[in-house]
Amino acid sequence: MNTVNLTHQTTTQSTRVHGPCKINGAIKIAGSKNAALPILAASILSSQQPCVLSNIPQLTDTQHILNALMSLGTHVCLTDQDQLAVTPPSQSFTTLNQAITKNTRASILFLGPLLTKYKKANIALPGGCNIGQRPIDQHINGLEKMGASITITDGVVNATAPNGLTGCHIVMPSPASVGGTENIMMAACLAKGTTTITNPAMEPEVEDLIGFLVSMGAKIQYNNNDQLVIEGQERLIGTHYHIISDRIEAGTYLIAAAATQGSIQIKNCNPEHLSTLIHALQQSGHHILTKDQSVYLRAGTHTRAIDINTAPYPGFPTDLQPQWTSLACVSQGVTMVRESLFENRFQHIPELVKMGARIIHKSNREISITGNRNLKGIPVQVTDLRAGAALLIAGMCAKGTTTLVHSQYLDRGYLHLQEKLAQLGLTIE
Ligand code: EPZ
Repeated sequence: MNTVNLTHQTTTQSTRVHGPCKINGAIKIAGSKNAALPILAASILSSQQPCVLSNIPQLTDTQHILNALMSLGTHVCLTDQDQLAVTPPSQSFTTLNQAITKNTRASILFLGPLLTKYKKANIALPGGCNIGQRPIDQHINGLEKMGASITITDGVVNATAPNGLTGCHIVMPSPASVGGTENIMMAACLAKGTTTITNPAMEPEVEDLIGFLVSMGAKIQYNNNDQLVIEGQERLIGTHYHIISDRIEAGTYLIAAAATQGSIQIKNCNPEHLSTLIHALQQSGHHILTKDQSVYLRAGTHTRAIDINTAPYPGFPTDLQPQWTSLACVSQGVTMVRESLFENRFQHIPELVKMGARIIHKSNREISITGNRNLKGIPVQVTDLRAGAALLIAGMCAKGTTTLVHSQYLDRGYLHLQEKLAQLGLTIE
């Protein structure tokens, strides 16, 4: 099996940030993790021609999906323009065991592509994670409706479709699963006939996956009845594709600049993908200019408390909720934060309270934060990627040194974090 290693695999690591400090400077945003992962899985739909991908972020999550691809027999190599060339084999393996899938939940995104192209898939489930149980009923219901037979035994999803999949009409529940929409859409690309998905998740990352599939010859339309219509094809071909930039990375740095009362220029991001966050930051007293593919923020003298309620795009992104919570800890007034998408995405709260934040749980979905500027630097436990980002922002605002234990989680979603923070005038160890 050929191997390409984009990142140094890290085990447990700690990161120290000395606060209070101020972000000032400009950074370039990396490619979107949540667009790259489904697109890498979708690359196996190509009939043996390479897909050449640029702007793939070299993150641990991306490395794990590349490892999964290589374990299936796909050839992966880096071109001399730092692009990834991914070529599926004529006959692929169709099993992903726990050793592979335990590292990233996104491995479930191989289910639709393997099933529709090779008519079977066996994928070990990585189990729940810190932000919730992460069920896959929407993935399974859609694929079963297309003719798959799926069982889950001993934590392994066993799926077969000996006669291939057949297009049909699938209505997604609300809120529609992002990964569920992606799996059903990828499966529909090689199914017989037409599949209509009503009420699909339409995050920018889903749109980027659509762009990638269409560039491979897929026939996908989004109509004004909030429906994706996919006409199944005999085969898809290789392509060249540039991944969109990461709106969550961009949003994280904007919130950090606001919380530290600094200023930042975010280059090569799409301001349209950040409209709800930009509006909330302006409402809370920060000055923002957007021009072409960049966003410039100059913090106001203080942050007014602004309530948020996470929702599917274009609502407030759940992946920026923890970061907003840290901003709320240093705002003037009381902020209500409601997490409507995940049932357990407040793992960062006990750590923020240890730092001196005043936070009350109204329910497992809603918290109330009374802002103050008295956070103190202490050792805190990072439990997941975005909780880590929230604690890093809190550490920038706290007095003293904040040690983020298990900060390796940050490598899953923030490329070259240390270098970028250094460009912004911060030193972290
Ligand atoms: C994607 O996860 C993102 N990950 C997540 O980003 C993001 O938070 C999430 O979408 C929501 O926007 C990638 O794209 C790789 P979901 P996904 O299926 O697809 C429930 C990050 O930090 N649900 O839309 O797994 C589920 O329990 C990560 O970058 C079902 O009930 O999210 C959850 O409460 C974290 N049945 C809600 O839907 C299902 O079959 C959202 O899950 C599937 C999901």
